[in-house]
Amino acid sequence: MSYYDGIAKKWHEITGFRGGAFKRLVLNGFLLDRIPDIAGWAILELGAGNGYFMPMVLERFSGQTPERFVITDMSSKLLHIAQRSFRIPEAEYRQVDVRAGFPFDSGSFDLILATMVFNEVSDSAMKKALSECRRVLGETGTLLLTVTHPRFVESLHRRGETRQDRNGLLTMPAADGIRLPIFRRSQERYEAMLRRAGFMFESHDVHALPEVLREKPGLRSAGNVPLALVFRCRIAR
Ligand SMILES: C[S@@+](CC[C@H](N)C(=O)[O-])C[C@H]1O[C@@H](n2cnc3c(N)ncnc32)[C@H](O)[C@@H]1O
Repeated sequence: MSYYDGIAKKWHEITGFRGGAFKRLVLNGFLLDRIPDIAGWAILELGAGNGYFMPMVLERFSGQTPERFVITDMSSKLLHIAQRSFRIPEAEYRQVDVRAGFPFDSGSFDLILATMVFNEVSDSAMKKALSECRRVLGETGTLLLTVTHPRFVESLHRRGETRQDRNGLLTMPAADGIRLPIFRRSQERYEAMLRRAGFMFESHDVHALPEVLREKPGLRSAGNVPLALVFRCRIAR
């Protein structure tokens, strides 16, 4: 059973149809603005959670028909929720653990979305996942990878808000008292791992807007650190 199988119902409640305040008011739009097109594309989403994001992609690009959609997560319960709550009839739903080989042919995708999933896996798992992303992406494909910002994670850690659960897993607080797995990894480490996997990229810090802080005043104690780090990656030539 995956960690999220145990919190799937709660995660779905707090994520809802648009994500929590930060995703709803900032991150979703930021990511959508970095997807140029979807007509004829094959799109893979890793760690899709309750699956709310892909319908937003379709809505943004309404009128464009992708060739293939694959929505994946390691948690069978979340995948079930995704199919029940945000079902896209043409989409494939697959249980995929990014720590293992992906069950897809090489060069079969134009876009891979991975939002807040790689910050939950160890370095060795992330190395494997990046090499699989590299393998299944076509030569001109894009990996849009978002992680909880390392500076935000460090700020939580400094303030004593991370802790190890009884299985030794480091967790951080999230909405409504739930805790999420987190790996402490610097931005430089992410960048080195991306380069080693054969990607070139641009990176962006994404901050909370004042509206987010009004809804989530607890975030103010992190100071002015960005909440998310987005890498828009292409295969290096
Ligand atoms: C913080 S949630 C983010 C979900 C979604 N991307 C979103 O932004 O709402 C992390 C997701 O990654 C999934 N996940 C964690 N470890 C994973 C792994 N090894 N392989 C695939 N999915 C994983 C969890 O089940 C969960 O759905």
